[in-house]
Amino acid sequence: MSELKGLILSGGAGTRLRPITHTSAKQLVPVANKPVLFYGIEALVEAGITRIGIVIAPGTGDEIREAVGDGSVFGAEVTYIVQPKPAGLAHAVLTAEDFLGGSSFVMYLGDNLLRDGIADIVEAFEAERPDASIMLTPVPDPSSYGVAELEGERVVRLVEKPEDPPSNLALVGVYLFSPKIVEAARQLEPSRRGELEITEAIQSLVDSGGDVRSRIVGGWWKDTGRLDDMLEANRLVLDEIKPSNEGHCEDSKLEGRVVLEEGAVIRRSLIRGPVVIGRDAVIEDSYIGPYTSLGDRVEVRRSEIEHSIVLADSVVEDLPSRLEASLLGRRVRVTKSDGPARTLKMLVGDRSEIEII
Ligand code: DAU
Repeated sequence: MSELKGLILSGGAGTRLRPITHTSAKQLVPVANKPVLFYGIEALVEAGITRIGIVIAPGTGDEIREAVGDGSVFGAEVTYIVQPKPAGLAHAVLTAEDFLGGSSFVMYLGDNLLRDGIADIVEAFEAERPDASIMLTPVPDPSSYGVAELEGERVVRLVEKPEDPPSNLALVGVYLFSPKIVEAARQLEPSRRGELEITEAIQSLVDSGGDVRSRIVGGWWKDTGRLDDMLEANRLVLDEIKPSNEGHCEDSKLEGRVVLEEGAVIRRSLIRGPVVIGRDAVIEDSYIGPYTSLGDRVEVRRSEIEHSIVLADSVVEDLPSRLEASLLGRRVRVTKSDGPARTLKMLVGDRSEIEII
C-alpha cells in the first residue's frame, strides 16, 4: 500500500453537460456502462492508493455517496469532503486539508479518463519525491486546458486556458503533490474566472524554485466534460472491451465484440459491436451499431442507434431515422407519434439540445 493519499475531485457545476448534469453528477455519466468516476477510483487502487477522499458538491454529492459507498467494493477506504461551492481546484484542495493531514497525494479529476492508469507515475513520484509532478499530453486545442511550457523535462510555465497557448501540451487531470501545494494554494487570489486555480498554485512552486516535473502520458486521455468528449471516451473504452453474453438472443445476429449483461434480451435484431447492452435491456426489431452503450433496462424497438450513449430506463421506439452521436439521459422516451406528417412533438426538459437533421 502506498503512503500517498488520493483526492478525487467530483464537485463542480458540470455546466457543459447540461441537462444531464442538472440533476446528477457529471462524474456518474457512464462510459461503456460504468460511471467515469469509477475508472478514477480503480486507477488509484491499482496504483496502491486506497485512502481516498472524494470532494463532492452539496447538490450532487448524495448521488455520489450512494454510488461509491464506503469504497470497500473497490478495495478502498473512502472519505467524503463537501465543498460548499465550486470555487476552483485549488479551493477543493484547501477544503480537503483535514483529510490530507500533511500527506503527499495524488489529485485526480473525477471526469478524467486515462487508458494506461497512473501506476508508473506514482512509482516515479515515490522514488524521486519532487514537490509536484504533472501529466501532459499534446492536444489540438490547448486553449481549452491548462497548458505547460517546458525546458527539457523541467516545467517553466503553466497557464490556465490561455488565449495564446505557449505549447500544445495540455495538463491532464492527474497531479502528484507534496504537502507544499497546500501552502501555495493558500496564497492564491481568485483568477479571471473567479476560481482558485491549481495551475497557478503549481506555477508558484516553480517560481519559488520548487522541483516540478512532468511526464507525457502514454495511452489516450479524455476529459469527459463535453458531449463529444464523452462519446469519444465511450468509443475508446468500447474499442478494448472483451465480448461476453449473459443475456438471451432470439432470431438475432451479434457481430464483432458485444457485451450483453445479465438478463438483456435481443429479438429479431442486428447488434454490430463494439457495443455494451445493460442488464434487463430489451432490444426488438432494431439495429444497434458500433460504439453504442445502452444502460440497464433500456428498451429499443423498431429503431436504429449508433455511436451513442443511452442511460438507464430510457425507451426508444419507432424512430423514422437513425439516432447517432447522441447522449440520452435516464428515463427518456423517444418515440414516433401518430400526429400529422412533418411535424415534431416534444416534451423536453430545460436546457436540452435537439438537432433535427
Ligand atoms: O481536464 C483537464 C483540465 O482540468 C486541466 O487541463 C485544467 O488545467 C484544469 O483546470 C481542469 O480544467 P476544467 O475546466 O476541465 O475543470 P473542471 O471545472 O471541469 O473541473 C474538473 C473536475 O473537478 C470535475 O470533476 C469537477 C471538479 N471540481 C471542479 C471545481 C471547479 C471540483 O470538485 N471543485 C471545483 O471547485
